[in-house]
Amino acid sequence: MKIIHCNNYEEMSAAAANLVCDAIKEKPDLVLGLATGSTPEGMYAELCRKYKDGKVDFSKVTTVNLDEYCGLPADHPQSYLTFMKQNLFDHVNLNPAKTFLPNGNTEDHDAEAAQYEKMVEALGFADVQILGVGRNGHIGFNEPAEALFTKTHMTALTKDTVRANSRFFASVDEVPKHAITMGVGTIMAAKHIVLLASGEGKRAAIATLLGGMIDTICPVTLLQLHPNVTLICDDSAWPRRRSAEA
Ligand code: F6R
Repeated sequence: MKIIHCNNYEEMSAAAANLVCDAIKEKPDLVLGLATGSTPEGMYAELCRKYKDGKVDFSKVTTVNLDEYCGLPADHPQSYLTFMKQNLFDHVNLNPAKTFLPNGNTEDHDAEAAQYEKMVEALGFADVQILGVGRNGHIGFNEPAEALFTKTHMTALTKDTVRANSRFFASVDEVPKHAITMGVGTIMAAKHIVLLASGEGKRAAIATLLGGMIDTICPVTLLQLHPNVTLICDDSAWPRRRSAEA
């Protein structure tokens, strides 16, 4: 695993945006896997800035998002589609016909998940997959469990994740309790995984990731089995040594 230990959130965001731009320069028709949440917001802002400055061209890029809430209309302010439009899609020259998220607002979530998996597979999976990590170690919405799904599926969010995500909603009751997410196999099929981590809340998950063991109770640890992972971590998320004195 390649590790880029940054001083702060801004450096982390710039490093991630540079990596994405270099990948697009090398392969203009890149399949770019995207994440939502607070962590990549700075990277998206940086990518929009770079596009405005003429430093990157998204016209041939295809994007595939990791996940989407179930039961929210696509134009709901907290849907992941809305997030992506506000943070990236509406500001760069991506072709709207080539930006994909699961449709969580459907009767048949299993059929939607299967169709999404097929679509990502047909694209050859992501060339570069951006990931955040939950405080509990989840990736996408693959929550800690004794066994993990390999493919895209509908899943229940843990109470911890619902609580963490309630900061975006008026109340915890409004947070959807289910989502459609890529499975760990879908994620691991990406050619290059770029994991971003910022904030003290992520320290435990990063420490477990770097601890050398694999445990489905901390799904991010599976990334140790991937041959091409870059962890871009800011200092606040970087694990501390325990101090010697009590
Ligand atoms: C979002 C996603 C989640 C987030 C994770 C961290 O698409 O798949 O796994 O990456 O919950 O969220 P933030 O960045 O808000 O701490």
